[in-house]
Amino acid sequence: MSAETESPAQPYDQGAWWRDAVVYQVYPRSFADANGDGEGDLPGVLSRLGHLADLGVDAIWLSPFYPSPLADGGYDVADYCDVDPRYGTLADFDALVAGAAAKNIKVIVDIVPNHCSAEHPWFRAALAAGPGSPERERFIFRDEPNNWQSVFGGPAWTRVPDGQWYLHLFDSGQPDWNWRHPDVVAMFERVLRFWLDRGVAGFRIDVANMLFKQDGLPDVVPGSQGGPLTPGHTSMPYEHQPELLELYRSWRKILDSYPGDRGAAPACTAPACTVAEMWSGHPDQARPYLSGDGLAQLFGFGLMPTPWSAEEFRTVIDASHRLARETGGSLPWVLGNHDVPRMVTRFGVDQDLVRAPTPEVLLGRMDVDVELGTRRARAAALLLLALPGGAYIYQGDELGLPEYLAIPDEARQDPMFERTLRAFIGRDGCRVPLPWSGTAPPYAFGAGGTRLPTWLPQPEDWAALTVAAQRDDPGSTLNLYRAALAIRRDHPALGDGDLTWLDAPPGVLAFARDPGFTLMVNFGAEPVPLAWHHDVLLASGPLEGDLLPPDTGVWLA
Ligand code: NOJ
Repeated sequence: MSAETESPAQPYDQGAWWRDAVVYQVYPRSFADANGDGEGDLPGVLSRLGHLADLGVDAIWLSPFYPSPLADGGYDVADYCDVDPRYGTLADFDALVAGAAAKNIKVIVDIVPNHCSAEHPWFRAALAAGPGSPERERFIFRDEPNNWQSVFGGPAWTRVPDGQWYLHLFDSGQPDWNWRHPDVVAMFERVLRFWLDRGVAGFRIDVANMLFKQDGLPDVVPGSQGGPLTPGHTSMPYEHQPELLELYRSWRKILDSYPGDRGAAPACTAPACTVAEMWSGHPDQARPYLSGDGLAQLFGFGLMPTPWSAEEFRTVIDASHRLARETGGSLPWVLGNHDVPRMVTRFGVDQDLVRAPTPEVLLGRMDVDVELGTRRARAAALLLLALPGGAYIYQGDELGLPEYLAIPDEARQDPMFERTLRAFIGRDGCRVPLPWSGTAPPYAFGAGGTRLPTWLPQPEDWAALTVAAQRDDPGSTLNLYRAALAIRRDHPALGDGDLTWLDAPPGVLAFARDPGFTLMVNFGAEPVPLAWHHDVLLASGPLEGDLLPPDTGVWLA
């Protein structure tokens, strides 16, 4: 592993920009379509930067836009250092970074190091070179598979015509790299530098816990599950291998070697960050990565699977916040992303179905009270943005979009749908192209009034949810997010720091942040008195005099 310098990395600066940043996730295929072909693209993102500047976010994270056959929506990368023609060109990327910089918005890109695409030149070379070749060493080929299962369903091994098997922890179009091969290590160092040279402010690291596999590739013990690294628990043999910590330290050194101004990067005079995707069942699993000399951040995913319950929310917040305090690490809060059902829908169903999804739920067959889910999602947004630390907002959540459950089977694109033998409808429902204006699909998703169908169909009933419809409505979800971000930007209590829980009635979460800020969210069924305040800064819904109605959140001063 090549290291930039021999000196150990210093703990991260407590004032680093990313510690309290609000980052907006752009899923490029579904954000905005500048060439009118029904798929989003980078010029589309550039053309809609005004929306993001008005919203008031600090940075955007771009999900993959690299050349890809889209076996997994672009998380199957055929070339890590280019832009897929469907999304534009490298010049379009540079224009986007510059345009964002002009609006004070940083750009984070997605790096996918666990696997590439079956179309990556090195995988094609490995297939052509045959068993025993040096080309195959960069991947994980074996004469016999072990019992590992793909995260997407079905076996994690696919046989090639010469009889060998290759490992893919996700789709068969996503062969896993062999991270014990120096070519792979060196290649990703070049990839980091390539994007740093173009001015990115950081990297979101895909499945950051899985890159190294246990020596000998032992079978998974039947019945075991990936879980906390504490005595009595097991971890999968393809996650949390000790070499990961060393790898992320080496990446940190590369990022740190890019201080100050960099060439084409007017946006980025700040040290770049890393934010790691690790779905871990227990904070102890995350702890080693937060020691401060490797990864900058781990996503704080705990709230996403949490049902609408004050007690359950508090448990998750406490665990994550305590971990951040104890380690000095940073776990930005997340309520939505391109892998989970949208929160309007999660909060709009019987919450026992969130605790234990049934086969019917996996098929999207359940009653959803969108109005209730919207109220709760708005309250949750105020909670998200009041918590100590950074936050990620998934595109469309600022519009209060629900999950689109009724996508016809033949239009579904997520490989999970077929790999689970259609037992799970997959993640397409949160990836539907955004509605910008108009009263019917495609809601001006494509520039120039194009009426070409979008790559995933949009619902017929989103007219009231478009950006244009919400822009001038003071009560809209869009304006709630804008107001919250504007207050957050100026209020000295918000952003990084600490919180103090306040005694609140059952079903109510209340915490104070210094100086002079209180959050209350009523998860219960009855109105409760507003307490601890002089002024209402912002409420997620109408208040009843001095009462906070159910499913409502409020910021108090
Ligand atoms: C996590 C990404 O968020 C998800 O969309 C993708 O399918 C898997 N990693 C595999 O890359």
